[in-house]
Amino acid sequence: MSINNAEDNTTIEKIPSHVAIIMDGNGRWASQKGLPRNQGHEAGTKNLRRVIKCFAKYKIKYLTLYAFSTENWLRPETEVNMLFDLLAQSIVEETPKLHSDGVQIRHIGRLDSIPKELGKSIEESIELTKSNQTMILTIAFNYGGRTEIIDAIKNIVKEKIDPDNINEGTFSNYLYDKKLPDPDLIIRTAGEMRISNFLIWQSAYSEYYSSPVLWPDFDDIEIKNALYSYSNRHRKYGTI
Ligand code: IPE
Ligand code: IPE
Ligand code: MG
Repeated sequence: MSINNAEDNTTIEKIPSHVAIIMDGNGRWASQKGLPRNQGHEAGTKNLRRVIKCFAKYKIKYLTLYAFSTENWLRPETEVNMLFDLLAQSIVEETPKLHSDGVQIRHIGRLDSIPKELGKSIEESIELTKSNQTMILTIAFNYGGRTEIIDAIKNIVKEKIDPDNINEGTFSNYLYDKKLPDPDLIIRTAGEMRISNFLIWQSAYSEYYSSPVLWPDFDDIEIKNALYSYSNRHRKYGTI
């Protein structure tokens, strides 16, 4: 499918099916403005609506957002709690609108160690939106790629799967969401060039786009730049 952008006539020839984003730079956004980090996280959370809307406009089927990693527990307790509160608040505020727009909410990561109330809100949003098909929005919260692989191995061992029956396909069935296709495009904001334990199994052949823009400022123009860049990639999967 090709999408023509009316503002500058850039045609995006190839739209990815699954875009996954490492939302980074809230802290730097705040410090550049002389504000405390929590205001950066608030601005970052506010930006979710704009970004989701923009990807919906491009008819992106799967959007996955990395919101809290298993390593983010290493931050000061006040910041961790603030991030939990912000997610809880935005789930409650955004779910009705997302639901009416046909968005299906899913989660990858561990719900066991996060506050019970937050876990419950996430589960309720998943349940409410489970039949929606316009867009599959996956929140990676308390997610770590290595933990996901370890959790998969534990379940494979528990089920006493015959080693001869383990291959890439069967292994994928033990990941947090076996229906989630591999990401075609991974975007990281704030200019970093690392994966930070995000979808490490699924990203084997993903295309990368590092945006210099800090997450709270990540907007339609930069989304278009990322999609335009993807559109011009030649994915080879090991072939010539
Ligand atoms: C992204 O912003 C939010 C999370 C990782 C939860 P950061 O808080 O990592 O922002 P920087 O990297 O300090 O700028
Ligand atoms: C990655 O960002 C995690 C999320 C965006 C949720 P970090 O800011 O935690 O990553 P590092 O520490 O710079 O690698
Ligand atoms: Mg960061």
